[in-house]
Amino acid sequence: MSRPGNVVNVGFVGCGSVMNGPYMSLARELRERGRIRTVAACDVDPERARATGERHDIPWVTTDPREIIDSPDVDAVLILTSMPEHGSLALAALEAGKHVLVEKPMAVTLDEAAKLVQVAKESPGHLVCAPAVILSPTYQDMWRHIARGDIGRVHLARARYGWAGPWWGKWFYRSGGGPLFDLGVYNVASLTGWFGPVQRVTAMAGTATPERVVDDELIKVEVEDNFQILLDFGDATFASITTGFSMQAYRGPAIEVYGSKGTVQMMGDDWAPAGYELWQNDAGAWKIHGDRNPRWPWTDGLRHLIDCIDNDVAPLITPEHAYHCLEVMIKAIDAGRDGQTRTVESTFTPPAFDLGDDRQDAHLVHAPER
Ligand SMILES: NC(=O)c1ccc[n+]([C@@H]2O[C@H](COP(=O)([O-])OP(=O)(O)OC[C@H]3O[C@@H](n4cnc5c(N)ncnc54)[C@H](O)[C@@H]3O)[C@@H](O)[C@H]2O)c1
Repeated sequence: MSRPGNVVNVGFVGCGSVMNGPYMSLARELRERGRIRTVAACDVDPERARATGERHDIPWVTTDPREIIDSPDVDAVLILTSMPEHGSLALAALEAGKHVLVEKPMAVTLDEAAKLVQVAKESPGHLVCAPAVILSPTYQDMWRHIARGDIGRVHLARARYGWAGPWWGKWFYRSGGGPLFDLGVYNVASLTGWFGPVQRVTAMAGTATPERVVDDELIKVEVEDNFQILLDFGDATFASITTGFSMQAYRGPAIEVYGSKGTVQMMGDDWAPAGYELWQNDAGAWKIHGDRNPRWPWTDGLRHLIDCIDNDVAPLITPEHAYHCLEVMIKAIDAGRDGQTRTVESTFTPPAFDLGDDRQDAHLVHAPER
């Protein structure tokens, strides 16, 4: 395994849309800077594996993830497959002593996720679980306002992320898929990052579009694709999440956080923020803050994992937080089916940042660099 300061040898498992697009875009940058080598790529579809290797200059391709996981030439494994495969592949890679980044959710059952949390504690490798929303400058700026009490005591929040839904990957519409694991997960991670563990969850859920054309085939949608979720954080603090493959467009803020002295709201989406707006009663006006890094990529968990390996420090995104998000989502799905509110058992320590304001003056943000 790579030691701090060494170039990290990365192997990819799953060569679909996100690997070939957003992940390789960041990986190329890290490769050019000499921070990683992209040594291997795996997909169960041999043609995808071959084409990916050729397109991105990855010397070794395979259809067997075990070969990458067991290879002494690979330090870090990126699990970018369809969601039901995440848990078992991440577990195998951690058990083999690798550093692991796993796309969201970390697993699709709590048993599998609990095993991952346990093994991550004992294994020499780091485990970074997407989504990486807490790493964005806008998320952290908003965290500072909330933590410093700039908007007073927070008792309500509203979050939303959805779109019309993918036309590729039938697994998105089958058990272990769905928009809550795929999209709402970002909102769950943001809200719990700011407010800490959820105590109770309830939801309404249904299938808005029962049939779709996916990969050029008409398929039956087997999961709920439309959700309204309510979260109770205790102390009369509540949040709602609206998510689904049932939205065509929107223009409002992704997340609004309402405090006793003001409001802070994230523009854009929490996976691609576009700054935030702050209302404080004292000021009596909205302040509009541009994004400190409009190029911040939602794949930033990869850069973070490499930084953590280099500096030999634990990732800011913890497996316990990812587990908590999964419990909230699984219980929201259950609540959507029987209408009953669920108690959330798990807990975690929310990420904390420097309270000081380290914003670069907005007028000096000219050519933002990573
Ligand atoms: N599509 C997006 O915009 C997006 C954004 C953020 C995160 N994600 C997450 O990224 C992951 C991948 O999404 P995608 O859109 O690229 O899906 P995709 O269907 O395009 O790609 C998944 C790939 O994984 C391969 N695969 C499945 N099982 C495998 C196994 N056991 N070993 C090796 N390869 C295997 C499939 O053959 C496929 O090529 C999902 O977890 C998704 O939630 C997707």
